Amino acid sequence: MAEAGIRKGAGQDELERLQLALDRQRRLAEEKERQLERYASDLRETFKAERARTDELHASYLATVRALTNAVEARDAYTGKHAERVAAYGLELTRRIDPELAENPQVEFGFLLHDVGKVAISDGILFKPEPLLPEERTLMRRHPMIGYEIVRDIPFLEDAAQIVRHHHERWDGAGYPDGLAGEQIPAAARIFSVADTLDAMTTDRPYSRRVSFARARSEIAAMAGSQFDPAVADELAHVPDSRLELIRAGTG
Ligand SMILES: [Fe+2]
Repeated sequence: MAEAGIRKGAGQDELERLQLALDRQRRLAEEKERQLERYASDLRETFKAERARTDELHASYLATVRALTNAVEARDAYTGKHAERVAAYGLELTRRIDPELAENPQVEFGFLLHDVGKVAISDGILFKPEPLLPEERTLMRRHPMIGYEIVRDIPFLEDAAQIVRHHHERWDGAGYPDGLAGEQIPAAARIFSVADTLDAMTTDRPYSRRVSFARARSEIAAMAGSQFDPAVADELAHVPDSRLELIRAGTG
């Protein structure tokens, strides 16, 4: 009996020891869990702060780009908010064609800045009502390259610089400054080219009345494969008039 009592006592001790070990494990696990919760909460805070910083940075980049764009557009009373509208048409098309590309903020920057090189073109050429003489045309055609040189060294505008440089290229290779053809032309520049023509056709200019979106769409479709990327012209055919009207009204 005494032996059994001792054995029972030993079993009890073992049980208590295990119980203590288990409690310790539980406390450790709980502490670990609290620690993980703290880490998660810290991470959430860091992420939120980082996100706010990125948004702030993007807003100040955009404000800088807009200021530069306005400086160019202020010279031309007729274009109004051409750059803003082109950027909006261009972004609408980009989101439909390549949503990932549309996520790159530099696409909008490039659309807005496309004609920044015109700061170097004299009023006499820029606003000449008559057709340009061959040498004036040569000077005018330098604006994409001048614009590219203005923005290419700005770290947040490297991709935008490609749009600025190639916004007058043509799908058939007959554009300028590099005579790139087809998919050699950066995708955003191919999209821009359609948006630019759409805006030019659907806005009143000193020497031309605007046409309807339907008419502009069909004229652009007729130049698919020559001036324009057929895929972009085709996508434009799917953007409803109501959407284009809204963009024109919102930025006009
Ligand atoms: Fe241009």
